[in-house]
Amino acid sequence: MNDELVVAIEVNGETVRRLVPASRTLLEFLRVDLGLTGSKHGCDVGDCGACTVLVDGVARLSCITLAVEVRGPVRTIEGVPADDPIVAAFDRHLASQCGYCTPGFVMNLIGVREDGGAPDEEALRNALGSNLCRCTGYTRILDAAKDALGQG
Ligand code: FES
Ligand code: FES
Repeated sequence: MNDELVVAIEVNGETVRRLVPASRTLLEFLRVDLGLTGSKHGCDVGDCGACTVLVDGVARLSCITLAVEVRGPVRTIEGVPADDPIVAAFDRHLASQCGYCTPGFVMNLIGVREDGGAPDEEALRNALGSNLCRCTGYTRILDAAKDALGQG
């Protein structure tokens, strides 16, 4: 038996309600129920960071978060304006190649920014350690992060 529950979550400023299986992850909720496919399926076990979104301003791995557990507003890459300084820094530094990892990195870095302060390079490296990229070798991503967060 697959119990279903109504979940109501604010996503990118709009409250949405859906009847979903109790086992629905936040990533599936976003991609399947809402059609927001910017958050990516990577490993599905919390290792790669491709599915990173913000929940109440904090970076969370949506593949290992149940939709019914979510408390607080969710922000996804679809809710990030194109002129966000982090997105602009990724463009400037050519920090995206295939782009599959990029939404996760951007959301992670927005979480760092919302945490306040001015992280040094070591703190940025630690923060970015939760996200994997198969293309860039990370140098350009770190350069973009330092640029956008004032450590360039
Ligand atoms: S898909 Fe969530 S951490 Fe890899
Ligand atoms: S740009 Fe391809 S995985 Fe990161």
